[in-house]
Amino acid sequence: MPLGLSRCLPRHRSYILLEPLEGSQPQKPGLFHIVLASTFVISVVLNLVYLLRITHAPPSPLNDYQQLKNAPFLNTSAVPPPSEDAWRGAAIVTTIFSDSYAPAVATLGHSLRRVNTSARLVLLYLPSKVSPKALCLATSSGFVAHPIERIPPPADGRGMNQHFIDQYTKLRLWSLDTLSEPITSLVYIDSDTLVLHNFDELFSLPYNFAARLHARLQRRRPLLRPDSRVFDSLRAALNIARYPPEYAEQAFLNQYFATDALRLPLAYNGNIAIKRRAPEVWDSLQGEMRIIHYTLTKPFISHSWKDVPLDRIEERVRKAATENGGLYREEMLQWGDMWRETRRVYADRLRECTVY
Ligand SMILES: *[C@@H]1O[C@H](CO)[C@@H](O)[C@H](O)[C@H]1NC(C)=O
Ligand SMILES: *[C@@H]1O[C@H](CO)[C@@H](O)[C@H](O)[C@H]1NC(C)=O
Repeated sequence: MPLGLSRCLPRHRSYILLEPLEGSQPQKPGLFHIVLASTFVISVVLNLVYLLRITHAPPSPLNDYQQLKNAPFLNTSAVPPPSEDAWRGAAIVTTIFSDSYAPAVATLGHSLRRVNTSARLVLLYLPSKVSPKALCLATSSGFVAHPIERIPPPADGRGMNQHFIDQYTKLRLWSLDTLSEPITSLVYIDSDTLVLHNFDELFSLPYNFAARLHARLQRRRPLLRPDSRVFDSLRAALNIARYPPEYAEQAFLNQYFATDALRLPLAYNGNIAIKRRAPEVWDSLQGEMRIIHYTLTKPFISHSWKDVPLDRIEERVRKAATENGGLYREEMLQWGDMWRETRRVYADRLRECTVY
């Protein structure tokens, strides 16, 4: 509260009268004081209104989830099968920008093979950041590696979360129609994910861009159609788009596709953060969840984002299972099981990686 304000509030006036400044008369409130007092009162009222609005918000489907429906969200017999040609150009793509994610990519590849996806698996990597040994491990279970060139962040990365400094490189997804075996439609998934059920139905969508919502309502791009003309347009738009820089390319793509993004069901992004924020929503997704996304805690890198040597990953999984009060125990152990299976199924290939 500004100092002068207390003098014109009735309950304080008597206090001031107890200690009048020498030779001064008790003051009558001037215009200045009246304005200050009114500002104070208005701000109290506005704060109360704001508080009431957040505590008495109308129910929303996710914050106040109710299990009302009883049919699955997808009718598989209504999904038109893509033509053979379309399958040739279909890919599931992920990226690796550091060695520490190699075990995650290997495990993800195995989980995709297990659900019999018809799309090919493509791993984009930055040659300067990924060692041959890590690449060998990451591609052991089916991903085929393609080097790409980094795209630096606009404005030298000012205002950006430093975690996302290489993420503009992902715009290269739109240029993959120029590969010797062109990719014409792709589903992008982060490498810190595990696939639980086949999601090939996404390749039957006619849209150019479909996304699932992520925490903070940032859209993630799971389905898109590579097209070099779009790639050029995206790069040109980078210089003029207005968006919050801290969320990097995701916020940019939100701004670029704006009204045109198809919103996908939450089952395509089982972000473990949902389990903490809305446990009923998480429970309702079980059985239909296609992809589980290890955002807050990762079973393959340490809590402080450090590399874990291969022979200590199982130990890390057990540790991750106890973090957050054991909230993600099931999900961490699930990843650990898949990692163990990956090591068993692809043992011969993995042995070849030890020569590096
Ligand atoms: C699924 O789609 C098929 C073909 O469009 C339709 O015949 C069938 O009734 C649908 N099933 C359900 C459970 O809605
Ligand atoms: C994948 O294909 C194999 C071999 O055809 C089959 O045994 C297996 O059950 C399939 N898995 C799923 C999840 O459909």
